[in-house]
Parts: sequence; structure tokens; C-alpha cells
Amino acid sequence: PAAVIVGIDGPSGTGKSSTSKAVAAKLGLRYLDTGAQYRAITWWMLSNGIDVNDAMAVAAAAGKPEIVSGTDPSAPAITVDGLDASAPIRTQEVTAAVSAVSAVPEVRTRLTELQRAIAAAAPAGIVVEGRDIGTTVLPDADVKIFLTASPEARAARRNGELKGKEAGDLAATQAALVKRDAADSGRKTSPLAKAADAVEVDTTELTLEQVIECVVTLVEEKR
Ligand code: C5P
Repeated sequence: PAAVIVGIDGPSGTGKSSTSKAVAAKLGLRYLDTGAQYRAITWWMLSNGIDVNDAMAVAAAAGKPEIVSGTDPSAPAITVDGLDASAPIRTQEVTAAVSAVSAVPEVRTRLTELQRAIAAAAPAGIVVEGRDIGTTVLPDADVKIFLTASPEARAARRNGELKGKEAGDLAATQAALVKRDAADSGRKTSPLAKAADAVEVDTTELTLEQVIECVVTLVEEKR
């Protein structure tokens, strides 16, 4: 059978990553976390003293870090200039800075090209998760999913993920999440948006298993 391309978009805390990895593993597909790439470039900017709010400086440096994404759904690795970036890209410092960096067109152009090349190289197909996969990166994807959930559900899930270490109170998590989504939805270049032909799945009242099952069924219908 031909390779199947699945794009999964939506705001943070909707279960995108857990769903995408599980669907890829179940169907024998590769997996790409594009958010990890935006985080990786942001981590590099912060580590190299670049002011993330200076769009000109970010644009000038956009091509500098070498970013390599692993596509194994059971062990999605990411390196920046050969260094394992899996842990440092998840800090609150990176999370707070990533929307500014990802709004810079030069950053988006570079990562979009990288994402298309990775998708084209996946032999059986791939599940790609992000914010603009269905609208911009892979407009011809075979299956497009847009995951949503109430802000309360998303904040509760995000706090659960942070597990004590960095988890603050729920209200603060929710405020940070809503702020990041507003920035991602409001930017000029390929904002967070549902593609016209995407299937919207509201995960507020669903378990992770139910969401996975729903997406697997949609992909199998297209295969
Ligand atoms: O998915 P995750 O929360 O790790 O994404 C981090 C950030 O990367 C998002 O808040 C957004 O600013 C950016 N992003 C993006 N386009 C994508 C994926 C992520 O702008 N396709």
C-alpha cells in the first residue's frame, strides 16, 4: 500500500503527542513532533544569547543550529548540533519563549522544509503533529485531525505531565497555556488553525484510549 500521511494539529494539552505516538506505533508508521523542533531552535537561541523578542536577530540565526529529529514513535529523539535536546526543550524557560521564535517567518520556512523532507522519506507513512500541518506543512495529507479540549481539561493534563517538578497551581498553568495558544493563533505566518478538511475531535470528555481508537479508525478508512 502507498504511504499514509497523517497530520494532527491543535492547541497544547489536547493529547496531541500521546495520541500521535500511539497511533503511529499501532499502525507501523513513523512519528514527527514538530513542536519539539520549534522548542529545539528556541533552546539554541536562548543558549546562544539571542534575544528571542528580537525578530531580526532570530531570523538571522534561524539557519544556524543543526536539528535532527528521530522518528521512532517509541523513542522520539531530537538533537541540536549533535547534543541530545530532549530534556532541555521541556523547561518553562523554553516554553515561555517558543511562541516568539516560532512566529518568525525564517524559522517557519526552515522547519517546514525539514518537516516535508522527513515526511517524504517515511516508507510506510508518518504521523506528524503540530499547529500548521494540515494548513501549511502537508496540505495534501491523507488524514487531517484537529484536536481540541476545554481550557480546564488542557490545564489539568499539562499539570499532570509536569508531575510536581514544575507544576504550579492550575490557574497559573491555564493562564500560561491560554496565552501561548493566543500567540500561536494570532501570528501572521501559518497560525494555529484547523484546516477546512480536517476532522475536529473534542477530547474533553474522552479518555486517551478513545481518542487513539477514533484516529486509528479514521486512518484505516483512508488506507
Ligand atoms: O507542541 P508543543 O507545545 O511542544 O509546541 C511548542 C510550540 O511550538 C507551540 O506553542 C508553537 O509556538 C510552536 N509550534 C508551531 N508550529 C508547529 C508546532 C509547534 O508554531 N507546527
